Amino acid sequence: MGKLITFEGGDGSGKSTQLRLAAAWLQARGERVITTFEPGDTALGVKIRQLLLSGAHIPVPECELLLFLADRAQHVREVVQPALQRGEWVLCDRFSDSTMAYQLAARKLGTSSELLRQMLTFAECGVTPALTLWFDLPVAVAATRMQQRQLAGEKSTRLDDEAASFHQRVVAAFAGQAEANPLRVMRIDAAADVDSVQQQVTTILQQRFAL
Ligand code: TYD
Repeated sequence: MGKLITFEGGDGSGKSTQLRLAAAWLQARGERVITTFEPGDTALGVKIRQLLLSGAHIPVPECELLLFLADRAQHVREVVQPALQRGEWVLCDRFSDSTMAYQLAARKLGTSSELLRQMLTFAECGVTPALTLWFDLPVAVAATRMQQRQLAGEKSTRLDDEAASFHQRVVAAFAGQAEANPLRVMRIDAAADVDSVQQQVTTILQQRFAL
């Protein structure tokens, strides 16, 4: 059985760059790796992503949650589980902790609701991350990075455009997840430069998986 590693953090935290670097690092050690992301890394997911993020529609929080979970179930069954069964590493850009942070916490659907937690588990279809790397970055620093990206021509998503208070709740929720799951969730100081962030990531991978 392969292992799922999820990369989590607020928008602009640099986790996607680090995911690519971690994949290359593992491959250089002869490991078989796939990289994937949520939402939108299946044919159906592309459509769900469009519904969620284009800004053409403003879903109510309940609808937003269900669409993210729909994307996850499809993604787990179609992409993640088969790769794990082939014995591969699966590096996934965002997973259930994002739903916890963005929908349950920031959208205030309720982080302590047992029903919602069960819904998140249901959508995971039995797959749990072996390790979650949480790229922690102050909201103000993330906002500056996002502005720079937009000046460089990158289009922001409907969620990127939420108020600073929304993004504060996202960061606080990731911190809460790290505290509640100290064995699974490892905090990365994402304010450092790319090389030292990568160093933190590889140190954790080496220690955790004896690589
Ligand atoms: P994306 O463009 O993939 O960017 P990034 O991960 O680099 O920020 O945007 C995905 C957006 O979807 C992001 O703002 C977080 C949000 N999201 C949720 O709100 N809930 C979820 O369950 C997931 C997976 C993502």
